[in-house]
Amino acid sequence: MKVINFRRLLTWIIIAGLPVIVVLATTNDKPLLYSKEKETVAGFIWQSPDTSRIPYTDAGMLIRYGRELIANTATYLGPKGTVAHLTNGMNCQNCHLDAGTKTWGNNYSAVFSTYPRFRERSGTIENIYKRINDCIDRSLNGHVLDTTTREMKAIAAYINWLGQNVPKNIKPWGAGIRDITFMDRPADPVKGRIVFIQKCQRCHGAGGQGLSGSDSMNYIYPPLWGNNSYNTGAGLFRLSRFAGYVKDNMPFDAPSNSAPLTDEEAWDVAAFVNSQPRPQKDYNKDYPNVAGKPFDHPYGPFRDNFSEEQHKYGPFEPIRSLKIKSN
Ligand code: HEC
Ligand code: HEC
Repeated sequence: MKVINFRRLLTWIIIAGLPVIVVLATTNDKPLLYSKEKETVAGFIWQSPDTSRIPYTDAGMLIRYGRELIANTATYLGPKGTVAHLTNGMNCQNCHLDAGTKTWGNNYSAVFSTYPRFRERSGTIENIYKRINDCIDRSLNGHVLDTTTREMKAIAAYINWLGQNVPKNIKPWGAGIRDITFMDRPADPVKGRIVFIQKCQRCHGAGGQGLSGSDSMNYIYPPLWGNNSYNTGAGLFRLSRFAGYVKDNMPFDAPSNSAPLTDEEAWDVAAFVNSQPRPQKDYNKDYPNVAGKPFDHPYGPFRDNFSEEQHKYGPFEPIRSLKIKSN
């Protein structure tokens, strides 16, 4: 009879455990499995389904049109759009990279699996149409799409198709935007301006206005502030969303083996960009339950005694730990 070799067994246990440790380490401070607002982070690695498999049926054509609308929103719905003039000239893809498929590029892998769901911002259960219109209203500073339009149906069909293999209530690793480590000081717009000049300005422009293509219909480089940018009710106006997004995705042309922005650079440039002028919207009705405001929602009233300034720029750890304690 073969004697069990314990050293070998131990080696195998360690090797088998490694991927789990890697996932744990890279999901930041979130445990492998956690439940919050019906979300579950699991060791589920998502791969975008193959677009060449979309059938040439009516349903398939709707999915293809949805993908096209995400990638080239302005062509159809922008100020010079061929279907309607509803949005500010940006594309969904500017913020949901590779048509919403890039790991940590604000991808859509968790939408089909987690909607409809309750969201604190509206205080209601939102379906996918409502969530899409939220981004049209805020990120594209536009007028919402009627849910009966072919455009809305197409966008929803594409996003649902992307998430078709994700089990219900599962949020795959790499979905959305990463939470980066907090700093123990406020994010600094003055330092952020230097980061912007060194690492962003050559594409997004000295005035943050971006660069229009020769057809003046679509941007080559989208704006970061000013009249044509996202408004103050948008997700990117929250510092953690902006910092997390740029940390993993900007500068856009950075080779994958180059050093990313440091966390400090990401927080500071977020503070700089989000202290520049942009369209204001009255979102007084957001977060009807004050206790449900995220730590970096920059408008009072708050349940805690931290200032609007601290809710906007940090340091965020004291706000978050108090929130966890009192929830
Ligand atoms: C200016 C940037 C920006 C643009 C443009 C934009 N979005 Fe978003 N979108 C965001 C941010 C930020 C979030 C929230 C991500 C988070 O909180 O982790 C988001 C979230 C979403 C979600 C929910 C994702 C989830 O996993 O819960 C959907 C669906 C969505 N956007 C659809 C769209 C569509 C469709 C368009 C174009 C019509 C669009 N977005 C344009 C920034 C943008
Ligand atoms: C090489 C050019 C380039 C550089 C440098 C660059 N970006 Fe971008 N950025 C882009 C492009 C292109 C997109 C849109 C991507 C797409 O549509 O696929 C984008 C999108 C964005 C977006 C989301 C859309 C918007 O306009 O709100 C933000 C935020 C952003 N960049 C911030 C930054 C920051 C901050 C820096 C510097 C740290 C930076 N970028 C550096 C090219 C660049």
